Amino acid sequence: TFKPLVFSGVQPTGNLHLGNYLGAIRKFVALQQDNDCIYCVVDLHAITAQLVHDDLKGQIRSIAAAFIASGIDPVKHIVFNQSAVPQHAELAWIFNCVARIGWMNRMTQFKDKAGKDRENASLGLLAYPSLMAADILVYRATHVPVGDDQKQHLELARDIAQRFNIDFGPKIRETGTGVDMIVGEEPIHGYFPLVEPLIGGPAPRVMSLKDGTKKMSKSDPSDLSRINLMDDADTILKKIRKAKTDPDALPSEVDGLEGRPEAGNLVGIYAALSDRTKADVLAEFGGQQFSVFKPALADLAVEVLAPITTEMRRLMDDTTHIDAILKDGGERARARAENTMNEVSDIIGF
Ligand code: ADP
Ligand code: NA
Repeated sequence: TFKPLVFSGVQPTGNLHLGNYLGAIRKFVALQQDNDCIYCVVDLHAITAQLVHDDLKGQIRSIAAAFIASGIDPVKHIVFNQSAVPQHAELAWIFNCVARIGWMNRMTQFKDKAGKDRENASLGLLAYPSLMAADILVYRATHVPVGDDQKQHLELARDIAQRFNIDFGPKIRETGTGVDMIVGEEPIHGYFPLVEPLIGGPAPRVMSLKDGTKKMSKSDPSDLSRINLMDDADTILKKIRKAKTDPDALPSEVDGLEGRPEAGNLVGIYAALSDRTKADVLAEFGGQQFSVFKPALADLAVEVLAPITTEMRRLMDDTTHIDAILKDGGERARARAENTMNEVSDIIGF
């Protein structure tokens, strides 16, 4: 069997928000206690939707700073920048030849990001999930903490791994590089693990503060729709006070949140920020009006985010230190990725 290994990535595109923090980074921090973890700033992904960026290097540093300010240990684990390890792109090419165009065309994120003018989307945007599969599998990682929006991409990563394992089955045996695993009921001998998404928790998809049916996103034109990691306390309070809600009091049980997406979102955020369940939060706040709950939520958000913001600012003032962390992480990641690509070359017959 495969040794458990956690991998995940965040794109260096625009300000990090509470959705990125609760859906991804906070989980990265929790997982490092008991696991070997690799956390990547995925700059090759950042150029798929928009090619030219004003300050890509600054954005890369700010994601690395956010990882470290949130509590990720870059010495015990690995924090690095995707383009520093060319094996990601190399394996992605192989995976482009494993994946089928039909699989890519079904990706809802591609449809959303490409919009109506699909013919004019970059080829990289279509191939994005193949690169994401390579990011994970170039380390033969087994567990991937992500927000709910990435679920379909992880299913595709499993499909790619499975297809590779089956198509190259005899070669994998011949080269002695494989591992026994169970796929459904079938025991197979494969090279790449079928990754497990880690999506759960009370806020797997943090929604916009202005519209409980849309996810909180960097690309939403309204800044009031999201809480940015760099927002100060007053801004956080203002945004939560202005968040859309309904006129009713909070229910005392989770069932009562049904059909109330905005209320459910705020309760989920409170639960995730305090490492509690929604049921626990409602046991405390059930029957209360939003005029009571919102300030409590704002206080909690400030309590959790303010130290991270302060530390991020401090780290970003010392680019030499951040760059040294990324360089060291890149070297350690590359050594592992080279090992995988040597075996993949043997399997393919290069
Ligand atoms: P974005 O989706 O904001 O452009 P990324 O694609 O870099 O950012 O995603 C980084 C991580 O943040 C991914 O694991 C993604 O699933 C997670 N994420 C992004 N938005 C949300 C959200 N609204 N709720 C929960 N997780 C999210
Ligand atoms: Na995303």
